[in-house]
Formats: sequence, C-alpha cells, structure tokens
Amino acid sequence: MDKLYLHLITFLCCFALCVSLPTRPSVEPKGRQFPHDFIWGIGTSAYQIEGGWNASGKGESIWDHLTHNYPEKIIDQSNGDVSSDSYHQWRRDVQMVRDLNVHVYRFSISWSRIMPGGYMNNVSSEGIRYYSDLINELLHYNITPMVTIYHWDLPQRLQE
Ligand SMILES: *[C@@H]1O[C@H](CO)[C@@H](O)[C@H](O)[C@H]1NC(C)=O
Ligand SMILES: *[C@@H]1O[C@H](CO)[C@@H](O)[C@H](O)[C@H]1NC(C)=O
Repeated sequence: MDKLYLHLITFLCCFALCVSLPTRPSVEPKGRQFPHDFIWGIGTSAYQIEGGWNASGKGESIWDHLTHNYPEKIIDQSNGDVSSDSYHQWRRDVQMVRDLNVHVYRFSISWSRIMPGGYMNNVSSEGIRYYSDLINELLHYNITPMVTIYHWDLPQRLQE
C-alpha cells in the first residue's frame, strides 16, 4: 500500500514540478491556467505495482529474469515479486484512486501475464480476467482507464 501510494505521490509531485516551471515570465494569472480540456490523472506500471510475478501461470518477464538471476544489479537487491501486490489488491488500489479524486487512471498491461510465452498461441484467461476486472471496477466509479500496452517488461522468451 505504501509503495503504491509513494508511486502515485511521486508522479503527482514530478508532474506538479514540471507544470509549475514557468516557460516564460508571466504576470497575468490567466496565462497560468490549465486549459479546460486538460486531463488530470495518476499513473502506475505493471512491474512496479502488481507483484504476483508467477501467479496464475504468468510467464517470466525480463525484469523477473534480471532480478532473480542477477540480484546484485539492484542496489538493495529488492525485486517486484510482491511489490504493492496490486495483482491481488486491485480493489483497494481503485479505492485509492477514488480517494485521490482523479478521474483518469493510467496503468500498463504485463505482456507475460496475458501471454506467458510472449506469443498469441498461449493466452492466459486468468490474466485477461485480471485486467478486465480492473477496467470494469474503474468504469464503475467513472474513472477512465488509460492503458499503456507495453511498459518495458518484455517476456523473457522474446528477449531470448
Ligand atoms: C512463485 O514464486 C514464489 C517465490 O517468489 C515461490 O515460492 C512459489 O512456489 C512460486 N509459485 C509457483 C506456482 O511457481
Ligand atoms: C501456456 O502457459 C502456461 C502458463 O505459463 C503453461 O503452463 C502452459 O504450458 C503453456 N501452454 C502452451 C501450449 O505453451
């Protein structure tokens, strides 16, 4: 829970910092307003929050492979095996998005969770159901899902 929260807060802070850096001097408050169609939201990515690295037949991703076989590559030798456990705690996480009162949630899909071997010949129905349930929960609360199909967590099989 804390980790996910930190990701969200970090994102918000970075974002707030980026947008608060003036590109040109402006004395007019009007010039500092967001456009009406500006969309506020928060974001996560699969490997950073899901955990459940081998749950329900999920295949190995390049991050699973790296952290398990070369733990020394990570300073504190941590990994995303469990992380914020969003694979199991997705209802709690949607609740946190609601608590933040934003209406867009951007997340990524773990390729190896829906195609354990990387290819279409083996599609995991449990993996599909995970994202389907998540998306339905978001829609139920009027939160728009924004899906990043790939966030640098390639199936290890394809890497090979
Ligand atoms: C999943 O990985 C954990 C270690 O992270 C291990 O204890 C467990 O047996 C594995 N489960 C399966 C189904 O391979
Ligand atoms: C499909 O993926 C599952 C989970 O990784 C695996 O147990 C199964 O052997 C795979 N099936 C085929 C046909 O590759």
